Amino acid sequence: MEQFIMKGGTPLHGEVVIGGAKNAALGIIAGALLTDEDVIIENLPDVRDINVMLEALKEIGAVVERIDRHTAKISAVGVTSVSIDDEYIRKIRASYYFIGALLGKHHMADVPLPGGCAIGSRPIDQHIKGFRALGAKVEIRNGCVQAAASEGLHSSHIYLDVVSVGATINIMLAAVLAEGRTIIENVAKEPHIVDVANFLNSMGANIKGAGTDTIRIRGVRRLHGTTYAVIPDQIEAGTFMCAAAATRGDILIKNVIPKHLESITAKLLEMGNTVYEYDEAVRVVGAPVQHPTDVKTLPYPGFPTDMQPQMSVTLALADGTSVVTESIFENRFKYVDELARMGSNIKVEGNVSVIDGVKRFTGASVNALDLRAGAALVIAGLAADGITTVRDIVYIQRGYEHFEQKLQALGAQIELVDSEREAQKFRMKIG
Ligand code: UD1
Repeated sequence: MEQFIMKGGTPLHGEVVIGGAKNAALGIIAGALLTDEDVIIENLPDVRDINVMLEALKEIGAVVERIDRHTAKISAVGVTSVSIDDEYIRKIRASYYFIGALLGKHHMADVPLPGGCAIGSRPIDQHIKGFRALGAKVEIRNGCVQAAASEGLHSSHIYLDVVSVGATINIMLAAVLAEGRTIIENVAKEPHIVDVANFLNSMGANIKGAGTDTIRIRGVRRLHGTTYAVIPDQIEAGTFMCAAAATRGDILIKNVIPKHLESITAKLLEMGNTVYEYDEAVRVVGAPVQHPTDVKTLPYPGFPTDMQPQMSVTLALADGTSVVTESIFENRFKYVDELARMGSNIKVEGNVSVIDGVKRFTGASVNALDLRAGAALVIAGLAADGITTVRDIVYIQRGYEHFEQKLQALGAQIELVDSEREAQKFRMKIG
């Protein structure tokens, strides 16, 4: 089992380059199914969830060529099946995008109910509501979502009852080739929604309003090929911003869109850190003593739920009491018990945590539990005195490309090991 071992206590210094946005890329890969022409996707992050999506495309007959580590060429002209049942695809959340894309192009889809990180109940009722409004019959059978629109999809006026990233992208994927004018209201506004819409528009779709509360789509008959570069990953960037603050370091984070990071920047500034914004970079300088603050997760432009664990770890080292309210996923505080092993002082009541800052963490053996919790525990380990082992890092690898290498380049003493012998060797070296 691979694990990260690290010796903390060294402020991180230097530069890091952020990769493409995983959650945008997942929607874009599914969107490549909507045309028979070649689609070239650039700035793809080389992480597990992306590779699983690409493998699933191949399973149904698409040709996927990895031009280089961050570029893939997809040709979906040979897609022969609308049924996806790969054991891995069940584990990733974004498998649901195949429903929208296959339904849009082939008017049929048979896709397992999605998995993903266990961060709370994650229904897809709003996705299904959207597909039904577009004229599809949708049933859940044997753990799969089976959707069919024998007469094709038609336009609709859809109001989402909850603001959902997944439902917004999925309904866009289904509606771009539907006849007539579809209006989706109360949609999510995350940067990756805008990115997927821009990608589809680059293929000839007619989507307006992405990034606002209402998206308007005029269906087109066909989409053509495109070459498209995915936007930088807001959450990877935010993770390094918190790593700079928590370790009292100084990191220049390159290839970012500073506007997408504003909610994170605001919180780090409230804590007394310094954040410099450049055109395509931010620099975070961690203050020696940081103030507590309150955080509430909300849909964009609010504070992202995917940054809550990393920010909580940073607050757990501030001088005073912070309150964090998780309003998107109810089960996103499980890492608190792991962090307690490192000496943190956090109490959780329902969807609120009360964080009493401590002066320092001490190294411990902890489990990653989920993608963002895992990244947060690595930050904690790098800020802690002594040696920390983070297990189950397969979760972290779903969304962070060469996390340990990027951290090593910033001066972190961290190693990825895959045997107890290697672990022992590294502990002796750094101990
Ligand atoms: C996506 C992201 C995830 C991020 C989340 C919120 C991907 C692959 N994952 O997840 O990293 O944490 O957005 O930014 O992009 N809901 C419903 N019914 C639905 C859909 C959602 O009730 O049909 C609820 C969810 O339970 C949750 C809220 O809406 O409380 C937001 O979920 P949503 O935005 O859909 O998250 P995901 O698409 O699962």
